[in-house]
Amino acid sequence: MSDKLQKAREYEAEYGGKIGALDRPLFHLTPYVGWMNDPNGFSYYKGKYHMFYQYYPYESRWNDMHWGHAVSSDLLTWEYLPASMAPDMPFDEGGCFSGSAVEISDGRQLLMYTGLQAGEKDGRKVHFQVQNIAIGDGLNYEKYENNPVIDKSMLPEGADDIDFRDPKVIRLKSGEYVCIVGSRPEDGSGQILMYKSADAIHWKYWKKLIENKNRYGKMWECPDFFELDGKWLLLTSPQDMLADGLEYHNGNGTVCVMGSFDENTGDFKEERNQAIDYGIDFYAPQTVLAPDGRRIMIGWLQNWDGCAVRDQGELWAGQMSVPREIWLQNGRLYQKPVKELENYRKDKVTADNLELSGEMTIPGVSGRCVDMEVVVRPKNPENIYHKFAVNFAEDEKRYSSVSFRPHEATLKVDRKYSGSRRAIVHQRRCLVEESKNGEIRLRIILDRFSAEVFVNDGAKVMSMGVYTDITADEISFYCDGEAVVDLVKYDIKASK
Ligand code: FRU
Repeated sequence: MSDKLQKAREYEAEYGGKIGALDRPLFHLTPYVGWMNDPNGFSYYKGKYHMFYQYYPYESRWNDMHWGHAVSSDLLTWEYLPASMAPDMPFDEGGCFSGSAVEISDGRQLLMYTGLQAGEKDGRKVHFQVQNIAIGDGLNYEKYENNPVIDKSMLPEGADDIDFRDPKVIRLKSGEYVCIVGSRPEDGSGQILMYKSADAIHWKYWKKLIENKNRYGKMWECPDFFELDGKWLLLTSPQDMLADGLEYHNGNGTVCVMGSFDENTGDFKEERNQAIDYGIDFYAPQTVLAPDGRRIMIGWLQNWDGCAVRDQGELWAGQMSVPREIWLQNGRLYQKPVKELENYRKDKVTADNLELSGEMTIPGVSGRCVDMEVVVRPKNPENIYHKFAVNFAEDEKRYSSVSFRPHEATLKVDRKYSGSRRAIVHQRRCLVEESKNGEIRLRIILDRFSAEVFVNDGAKVMSMGVYTDITADEISFYCDGEAVVDLVKYDIKASK
């Protein structure tokens, strides 16, 4: 093991334990210590889910990228394993960037990742982005001596040798491995390249999977590609998006492109696309196929432009989303928290046909670790209410909210009054056309420092980080007009 990895492991063992259990989310993964961004190598291996992540243990800000590592049997209770990689080789000296994991034929686990390799271009010192592998047993990984396995000599005409990252390895029905990688073509936007291999070690360029052609942002980062309910889905996270109605917002976004894919020719026919999450904080999602056939997705519950929402002085920064089962329904991507969350539900509170006008609290409905479903309808369908809202993480001064305006068919998440002192995005809206009649179902998942709202049984999701002091734990309801509410609320607790 290199000194650099050894040092990271010693540091995390010493300081990780200093973070109190109540200072982290209960069931959302945070870094062992320090900084976390993208999920990496999300996989099921030797009977456990593995999650690696972009990691800088020494401070709560992005820096020299390592890979952190955690395992779980149910995707909600995670056990930290020691850091799996540090940037300690000439082919990754500028950082071990994002990538994926796959089991190879001899039963070992292969990590494929982007390395920042020092080089020179036009007389300037630069880091070329190259694709490397490391092979291991689920705990320790050895970087391959012949890295990089894909370098700039294997790029197609016009593809940039600096923006070339985030390999995701998948397996075709033929047994061949395909690696898809984000790339920047000459038009300055993004594209996804495909490489092929028989053993996941020796790679050859195959073809372009898809070109952005400056439609959705610029460079496309962190691709994932898989079959789901008869279609093929490409998930990718574009940088520098322009807002497009309420579908796509500015900055770093997420896109799901659906279509058909011919595994023999490599042709992908695009059919439609949508945002993956409509909230403030969701980026770079990866999926895993669970042993029971479910496709499960986890994203980074953070946005690059909004990192200042978290105080620099904290011992950790960055968290993952709740694991979400995804499926296709009516041509759309649907999501719901994995069913394993139900094992953590305690202290059920229900309310049926509750008439709501003005402000209201409900006995037993409070807390910061909560799974709550709220079904709202107008009291009189001829006279639809104007606004319905749920406030949470609330005390006398602070709150965050999710609110619905049926006449505009817009749902909004808002953390303006959460205690943040930064001039960054604090609210975002999405369209919920099908709820124009005032009927809407919201499943709200709170886990100390986040809120994720699943709309109409998972047709849309809005996620955001909420870093209000944990003592602010009230929940209240508000209606401008008259609504009727059914509610089921559970506390989420770790103990069985
Ligand atoms: C996305 C990203 C990746 C890159 C990593 C570096 O959030 O920019 O493209 O591999 O972060 O930490």
